[in-house]
Amino acid sequence: MMEQTVVLIKPDGFAKKVVGQVIDRFERAGLSIVGLKLVRLTQAILDVWYAHHKDKPFFPELCSQMMATPVVAIVLAGEGAIQKVFDLCGPTDPQDAAPGTIRKDFGVDKPHNVVHRSDSAEAAEKEIGLLFTSAELYPERS
Ligand code: CMP
Repeated sequence: MMEQTVVLIKPDGFAKKVVGQVIDRFERAGLSIVGLKLVRLTQAILDVWYAHHKDKPFFPELCSQMMATPVVAIVLAGEGAIQKVFDLCGPTDPQDAAPGTIRKDFGVDKPHNVVHRSDSAEAAEKEIGLLFTSAELYPERS
């Protein structure tokens, strides 16, 4: 099934200058970029983005980390894009991730795991709506 999904290269990935290498992995896997920009996240966006984490003890730290620098927001499209991106990123904790995944190769720990990726088609739709207008997306090339 053709799908769209969102990746954020988080401030730790931005600081490490691995943006090009991370994007390269998605393009090599056959995914198409249909949206791409630097975004400064705000508390208002994060309250919605991470609504399911709002009661977790790490939520305040997570938010301040996500607002520390701009993030690279990317919408990727392709056949089975959500699972493909999930597999390329690896699990939340880089220490549980297999070599060759983005989080293992560039991440350190859960708070510094380089990338966010959509969990589901519903999450992708919500996340795209929070960060992109339709004029910023080019789905015709996917
Ligand atoms: P992600 O799955 O993209 O979205 C929630 C983020 O919270 C997660 O990545 C981690 O970077 C971050 N986080 C920080 N601490 C924890 C924790 N203890 N458990 C899960 N996620 C954590």
